[in-house]
Amino acid sequence: MFNPKKILVPTDFSEGEDRRSVYALRQAIEIASQFNAELIILHVISENVSHMPLFFLDDEKLAGLQDKLKEHSEHELQKLKEKYVSDDIKVSYKIRQGSAYHEILEEEKESKVDLIVISSRGHSHLTEFFYGSTTEKVVRRATCSVLVVRNINERDGN
Ligand SMILES: Nc1ncnc2c1ncn2[C@@H]1O[C@H](COP(=O)(O)OP(=O)(O)O)[C@@H](O)[C@H]1O
Ligand SMILES: [Mg+2]
Repeated sequence: MFNPKKILVPTDFSEGEDRRSVYALRQAIEIASQFNAELIILHVISENVSHMPLFFLDDEKLAGLQDKLKEHSEHELQKLKEKYVSDDIKVSYKIRQGSAYHEILEEEKESKVDLIVISSRGHSHLTEFFYGSTTEKVVRRATCSVLVVRNINERDGN
């Protein structure tokens, strides 16, 4: 029976006319309230930042950059909370650092989630693919069920 109690919603904060990750978040909120489930909203700070050739930054500046990225993520999560999450939802906000799909799957295991709700697309505009690469890897490797939320515009072939 479909009765999710812990739902993981990864977000890259993509938002636009087709709403992308926000659209998935809103569906996850609806499911959570219907099933009285707990929601985990997760953002992964890309590991690419720490792999960039940032040789021109000393350790102190690099740490400063990482702090700024974390601050920015916290700020964006707070904005999502204010805009979309009502007070009656049980929700926690998490930030991890690394490769997005890998950290999403780590969170799945650690928090023992029973459903992942993820948008088919994120920030990039690689429209020749049905799914973004993060979503594809999560679908292939997750051990729980995954709901891939399509944006309305995609159905119209846009
Ligand atoms: N860094 C990230 N942190 C959390 N979730 C992410 C991250 N990157 C992507 N996602 C999730 O995966 C969805 C699809 O993104 P992705 O597969 O990367 O597609 P695209 O190639 O369009 O960016 C996003 O809407 C978001 O829900
Ligand atoms: Mg992406």
